[in-house]
Amino acid sequence: MIKALEPIQFKNIGFKNRIVRSATMDPLGNHDGTISEAQYNLYETLANNNIGLIIGGQIFVTPVGRVGLAENAMCDDRYIDCHKKMVDIVHKAGTKIVAQISHCGAASMSINGNPPVAPSPIPYAGSSIVPRELTIPQIDVIIQQFIDAAERCKKIGYDGIQVHCAHQYLLSEFVNPVYNKRNDEYGGSIENRFKITEKIIIGIVKELGDKYPVFLKINSNIEENDEDYYKDLVYVAQKCKEMGVEAIEYSGYNFTPLGRKGLHNYYMERVSAVRKEVDIPAVLVGGIRNFKDIDEIIGSGIEMVSLSRPFICEPDLVTRLISGQEETQCTSCSKCFYLYKKEGRRCIFHEKK
Ligand SMILES: Cc1cc2nc3c(=O)[nH]c(=O)nc-3n(C[C@H](O)[C@H](O)[C@H](O)COP(=O)(O)O)c2cc1C
Ligand code: SF4
Repeated sequence: MIKALEPIQFKNIGFKNRIVRSATMDPLGNHDGTISEAQYNLYETLANNNIGLIIGGQIFVTPVGRVGLAENAMCDDRYIDCHKKMVDIVHKAGTKIVAQISHCGAASMSINGNPPVAPSPIPYAGSSIVPRELTIPQIDVIIQQFIDAAERCKKIGYDGIQVHCAHQYLLSEFVNPVYNKRNDEYGGSIENRFKITEKIIIGIVKELGDKYPVFLKINSNIEENDEDYYKDLVYVAQKCKEMGVEAIEYSGYNFTPLGRKGLHNYYMERVSAVRKEVDIPAVLVGGIRNFKDIDEIIGSGIEMVSLSRPFICEPDLVTRLISGQEETQCTSCSKCFYLYKKEGRRCIFHEKK
């Protein structure tokens, strides 16, 4: 049997196969924060095509942490109903769905002319907007906003939540010393840099119980002193294990150009090493294109694999691979980050509207 298609059981949740749709925000959301018909259709297609777990595109826990108008909301009870409809559609197809709760930190939209917030006044990569440094009372409010969002997700019927601590967004900015220059209890050592995420996870487990699956997504590398960051990752994995996190999904800060260089399985070596040091299930994302890549990853001791751009290109990719297609058509060109605004299509392989 193809390893990718074998079922797997974690502590509190099991999946019909090892393939995850990594959280992928799409440009289709209604600008009032609710879910659009086009999104219901997209998730129905994903759910009907042999994916073991769908992680929904990031949803904001507060409007201050929203990255763009198409991002869906989880900051208020009034968004519960539209998410219920989405979860029902996915469950009806026999697939599990986890919600990714997020705050985009320095990358967030400015509201009423106010710049976004971040651990330190350092702009998001490529931006000139200097964010406002968070005070400790403001950090406490954000921790509660994540916990409140997770409570809504459980009420809605999501099979679990994933805390977004990757890709230079708020929680990742705290973890990464390039973006965190604080001298207080949230800066300096990895114990301090991970503290906001730790408090969020502890708060969620306290409110939702230790049976409700909580996942974390984190970068497997950083821009500077990456060797030291390996030790940080081992610390984070150990801490997550202690807190009862179900599995950690590992991405990277630099995934966009790597596929254009012809690379596959970008972060496998490092994540496999962390997985061997700490016994907590791992999910790997980045540059996975075919069943051979997946077999290699699972053979390295990593439990599940996760794909994003290939499912933008072909939401029915797993069905196609099962039917004999050798690999995804997706070339990892990353044009999907901006194509929709220019051309009304999400991928270079989709028809122009
Ligand atoms: C258009 C687009 C939107 C994305 N949205 C999210 C998101 O909402 N949350 C997240 O954690 N990662 C997001 N990602 C990153 C992917 O989940 C994934 O980590 C990355 O694309 C590497 O995987 P891939 O090589 O399979 O694309 C996004 C990526 C793309 C291309
Ligand atoms: S635009 Fe490029 S990277 Fe994005 S899904 Fe299509 S082929 Fe893949």
